[in-house]
Amino acid sequence: MTNNTENKTISVEELSEMIDAMMGVDGTVSDAEATYKERLMAAFEGDEQISHAEVISVLTTLSAADGEKSPEESQLIQQLMTQIKGGDGDVPQDVNDEANEADGEEMPQPSPSDAEEAAPSTDETIPESTRQLEIDGDAHMWIRDLNLHYGSAQAIYNVSIPFKRNSVTALIGPSGCGKSTLLRCLNRMNDLIPICKVDGSIELDGEEIMGRAADLVTIRRRVGMVFQKPNPFPKSIYDNVAYGVRLHYTPSRRELDRIVEESLKRAAIWEEVNDRLHELGTSLSGGQQQRLCIARTIAVEPEVILMDEPCSALDPIATAKIEELILELKKHFTVVIVTHSMSQAQRVSDYTGFMYLGRLVEFDKTSTIFGNPKEELTARYVSGRFG
Ligand SMILES: Nc1ncnc2c1ncn2[C@@H]1O[C@H](COP(=O)(O)OP(=O)(O)OP(=O)(O)O)[C@@H](O)[C@H]1O
Ligand SMILES: [Mg+2]
Repeated sequence: MTNNTENKTISVEELSEMIDAMMGVDGTVSDAEATYKERLMAAFEGDEQISHAEVISVLTTLSAADGEKSPEESQLIQQLMTQIKGGDGDVPQDVNDEANEADGEEMPQPSPSDAEEAAPSTDETIPESTRQLEIDGDAHMWIRDLNLHYGSAQAIYNVSIPFKRNSVTALIGPSGCGKSTLLRCLNRMNDLIPICKVDGSIELDGEEIMGRAADLVTIRRRVGMVFQKPNPFPKSIYDNVAYGVRLHYTPSRRELDRIVEESLKRAAIWEEVNDRLHELGTSLSGGQQQRLCIARTIAVEPEVILMDEPCSALDPIATAKIEELILELKKHFTVVIVTHSMSQAQRVSDYTGFMYLGRLVEFDKTSTIFGNPKEELTARYVSGRFG
């Protein structure tokens, strides 16, 4: 297998070889894997080169297609990543990681020295996580008693939190407190990190999604994700939106046209792109790219949309458009958003969970968290006194 690290693409044949290796690694090729490959190769028909982001996405989804990822699959992914990246072979957390690496971003840690006021540092000052967990309405998802370790380091401590249907829930807290980690649990993206061990319960519409039997491909369709940095594929605007749909089933051209148009409309970008659907998605502005990625997420009809700092790479005007869109999206979807912006959390969310050092310190209506929090720690954080 040859590399083309300079252009960060591989050929369809190379991808096909990788898929075959992945499917065979645990000794059997399941029906789910075979069907996935068939749809995948159909989706890539006509493409000569496939970007690394797509390869990573494909391999990680495939490894999860038949349930839990086996140790052999983890090891093989690691090897394949080393081959395509020609580098250190780190297993990426998600398809966005290459972009993050390019930015030289590192996982920040809570840093009391930077804080205006020293942040509390001992466990005793952090209240029990599951204190106020009432919502007025129906929970679309429920996390219960979740503990998560990266290797021997615990990152989430006994967190429980409900996510109200057709509402926006914001997760806030200082860098490194576990917001992204918790968000990734909601569609089991953390399964892609080999050293990550999770226990506890997560229900999606009353159905447990943590067990070995859970179908990860379906979970990730039902619980879509939008990342911090817009990550359109190097394909046309049309194909970006059609991509996920083609992976899940084979719609007629007419049906696909309808889904693409509808998704772009719902993501409030149709007016800007309807006469250039065959131009590259990557040719759009940052804010447009992020709305395109939202359209791509919506196209597979998820129920829940996870957003990890979706505006942090955008200017204020593009941010305002995404915020407006989030308020529109909650009419159809349940939204969970991680944000560092206190004002954004107040503008878009109905409920807010404040996390600190892997614990959920307080959860309540957003107006209460910002106006009249019960915990001193929350009051100090939302008023900008640390973090
Ligand atoms: N893939 C990983 N491997 C090992 N440790 C990790 C990994 N991802 C996160 N961590 C650790 O887990 C903890 C929580 O990280 P996480 O990224 O969830 O925080 P965060 O609240 O999203 O931070 P930020 O606001 O900076 O994005 C940190 O100590 C981090 O170093
Ligand atoms: Mg984060």
